[in-house]
Amino acid sequence: MAEKDNYSGMVDGINGLIDRQIFANEKIYSIELERVFTRSWLLIGHETQIPNNGDFISSRMGAESVILCRDPNRKIHVFLNTCTHRGMKVCLYDEGNTATFTCPFHAWSFATDGKLVGVPHEKDLYSKSLDKEKWSLIEVAQMYNYKGSIWATWDKSAPNFIEYLGGAKDHLDLALDSLDGSEGGTEVFGGVHKWISPCNWKVPAENFCGDSYHNVSHISVDMVGIGPSAGSGEKGRRDNELVDAQHLWISFPGGHGIHSAMKPANNEYIEAYKDNPIVEEYYRHCYKERELKLGERARIVPFVGTIFPNTSFHGRQPRALCSWHPNGPQSSQISRFFLVDKAAPKEVKDLVRRYYMRYAGPAGMTEQDDMENWNQATASCNGAIARRFPFNYQQSMGDYKINDPVPGMVSTQMTEENARQFYKCWASYMESQDWGKIMSHPAQTATGNGI
Ligand code: FES
Ligand SMILES: [Fe+2]
Repeated sequence: MAEKDNYSGMVDGINGLIDRQIFANEKIYSIELERVFTRSWLLIGHETQIPNNGDFISSRMGAESVILCRDPNRKIHVFLNTCTHRGMKVCLYDEGNTATFTCPFHAWSFATDGKLVGVPHEKDLYSKSLDKEKWSLIEVAQMYNYKGSIWATWDKSAPNFIEYLGGAKDHLDLALDSLDGSEGGTEVFGGVHKWISPCNWKVPAENFCGDSYHNVSHISVDMVGIGPSAGSGEKGRRDNELVDAQHLWISFPGGHGIHSAMKPANNEYIEAYKDNPIVEEYYRHCYKERELKLGERARIVPFVGTIFPNTSFHGRQPRALCSWHPNGPQSSQISRFFLVDKAAPKEVKDLVRRYYMRYAGPAGMTEQDDMENWNQATASCNGAIARRFPFNYQQSMGDYKINDPVPGMVSTQMTEENARQFYKCWASYMESQDWGKIMSHPAQTATGNGI
C-alpha cells in the first residue's frame, strides 16, 4: 500500500473524496495515536460513577488504559494505568473502591492522589536514591469536569475545554442538562456498555456527526416501534413532536459536528404515556418547565453529535455519552454510558432503562444495524481493488449558512458537510498544525461555498 503523508490530500473537501487508506493503514493509525489522541480533549467518564472517596473506574485515552478516581480530599484525578516501575497495569478492574492501587508485579503501591506510597524493601534496596515523588502515577495535563462529565487531555497547551467545545457546548448541554432545563443534574445509571467492534474509530465518530442519510438502515426498528412511547405503526413522542421541526446540521471549529432540530414556535406537549400517569406527568412537567426556563432556546432539541475526535452523544431518547476508542486500524473499543435526570421518578428510570437496553449497545437493535454498516465499510478499505477507489462525500456541497438560524456553520438540508469538516480537522491534527489553525476552521465568517 502506498503511504502518503499528505493528509489534507487524502481528505479532499473540495471534491468531496476521502481516501480509504485512512480507515485501514497501520502507519496512519499509529500517527493518529500520537498526533490526534495525545492532543485533543477526550471523554473519561462521569463524576457520578465515582461518588465516594477512593472510588475508581478504568477508562481509556486513545489506545491506553487510564484510571479515573477520587482521592481522600474528594479531588478527581485521571492517571495513566501503568506502573512507573516496569509498566504493569496498577488497576485491573473496571470499577471499585480502594485506598491504594498496588501493582501486581512487584507491589509498588500508589495512593488515589497518584503518589507512590509503598515500595517493598525500600530502605534495604534503594537506600536514599529513590525519589518517590518523581515516580508517582502519570497524570493528565488538563482535566475538566463539565456538568459531571469528565474530560482530559495530555496537552498542556490545548485550549481549555470550554474554548475547545465552542458553539458545540450548547448542544452537548442538551444531553447533560435535566429535561426541565436545569443546568446539569443528570447521572449515569446502570453500568458501562463496553465492547469491541471491527470498525475504524472514525467511522462511527463521523456517523454521529449527523449522518441522517442512513436512516434507511433502521427501517425495521422503526416499523416495530421500539421507542419508549412507540409501538407498531406508532413512532412515539420524540418523532411526533418533531413533525414540523426544522432539522439543523451544524459544524463547529475544532471538528465537532451536531445534528439538532428547531421546533416551531407554537409547539405543544404531546401526550404519549396515557397508561403510565407518573411518567406522563414527569415529561409534561419537564416540557413546561423547560419552556419557562429557556424561552426561545427551548425550541432547540438534540439528536446526536460528535465532539472531536471520538466522543459522541445522544441528546434525547436515549441520552448517552459514548467513546469510540481506537483499538487498531480496524478495531474500536466502544464504551457507552446512559444518562437520566437524577430527580426523575423510578417509573421514568425504569422505562428509559428498558428502552436503552433494546436500543443501543452490542445487543441493541438500532446499534446492531449501525455496526453492520461500520464494520463492512471498514473491511472494504482492505480490499486490494476497493482501496483504489475513494469514498464519496459530495452530498450538499456548499449548502450551508453561517450563524443562521443558530450559531455555527449550519445546513438545513441533509448534508455531509459535518463529515467533511470532521476530516478536514483530522488532517490538521495529522499534519501537526498548531492550535490556532486547528480551531480556526471551518471559517465561520465564510459564505457557503464548500471547504
Ligand atoms: S511493575 Fe509495578 S512494581 Fe514492578
Ligand atoms: Fe444509526
